[in-house]
Amino acid sequence: MRIVSGIQPTGEIHIGNYLGAIKQWISLQEENECIFFIADLHALTVPYNPKELQDKIIEKLVCYVAAGINPEKSIIFVQSKVKEHAELCWLLNTLCPVGELTRMTQYKDKSKKFKDNINAGLLDYPVLMAADILLYKGQAVPVGKDQEQHVELTRTIARKFNQTFGQTFEEPKELFPKSGAKIMSLTDPKKKMSKSDDPKSYISLFDSPENITKKIMSAETDSGKEVIYNVTKKPGISNLLTIYSLLADKPIKDIEKEFKSKGYGDFKKSLAKVLIDYLEPFRRKQKELQTRDVYVKEILEKGASRAKTIAETTMQEVNEKMGLI
Ligand code: TYM
Repeated sequence: MRIVSGIQPTGEIHIGNYLGAIKQWISLQEENECIFFIADLHALTVPYNPKELQDKIIEKLVCYVAAGINPEKSIIFVQSKVKEHAELCWLLNTLCPVGELTRMTQYKDKSKKFKDNINAGLLDYPVLMAADILLYKGQAVPVGKDQEQHVELTRTIARKFNQTFGQTFEEPKELFPKSGAKIMSLTDPKKKMSKSDDPKSYISLFDSPENITKKIMSAETDSGKEVIYNVTKKPGISNLLTIYSLLADKPIKDIEKEFKSKGYGDFKKSLAKVLIDYLEPFRRKQKELQTRDVYVKEILEKGASRAKTIAETTMQEVNEKMGLI
């Protein structure tokens, strides 16, 4: 299968991004043709600092590789370095009704959050995402639950293209992990864990052991003291149990049993240890990669060139079909 997915360069990559997306990427790359990029064009739709953008992009590439994406197997690159993403986005715009875009949940949320900057790019964001996927004729898109609506729209656009101009694209399907598709905030377990929130609300993949312990120990928990999974009554503990179970690779039932006669404190201490141990190799690899600028740049250049070859072929077909010969 051809797999396509990406992450925006803003903020720090956290365990929500890892459990929802990157962990799937790592196993998918073994058997599939994988294309993973850093979505810098998407990041321009909300206020950002241009001086920091390049560092953020490199940080994300380091993160991909440190977490286990293999640049020999997967194609890794920066979205803006393959101009066909923007080109295809424009063409797909002409097939996408504005009404579809104004009803997107993320558009509604972001236009509330950034009232003074409701730019056309924010509205068009999902069409660029459709272009990202269709440019490579992606068949599956491993993402967290918050991207479901965007992949759905990609299918709608693909269908419309095929109906209008002849069969060209397969309709891609989203791939969610069985558990962990929506990791919640540590400070408000009713909200999704998000890169753009207070760092106390998430565990970054490169947080120091001290910070991990601090954040987990002060994570919002629920009334009572039993470590039991119950999303409605105990959203805080249930979220922590999900993280524990995925990282320790143990069923939630077993963890509940282990902490049956213990309280939240013991459970949180143990979870902090699980996180520290799990993320230790990531921190080590990050340090090593930070000293290898040339290697990191080479990965991106090689990735962009491999991506471009596929992108150019698709654009030729699309241009011909749309009458732009
Ligand atoms: P972004 O950068 O917001 O998030 C990257 C990936 O992490 C997942 N994710 C989560 N999963 C579980 N729990 C959470 N709390 C959580 N928060 C984020 C996201 O679902 C995503 O998979 N629009 C995309 C980037 C993008 C893209 C694409 C993805 C651009 N083009 C094409 C796939 C295909 C985004 O902003 O992701």
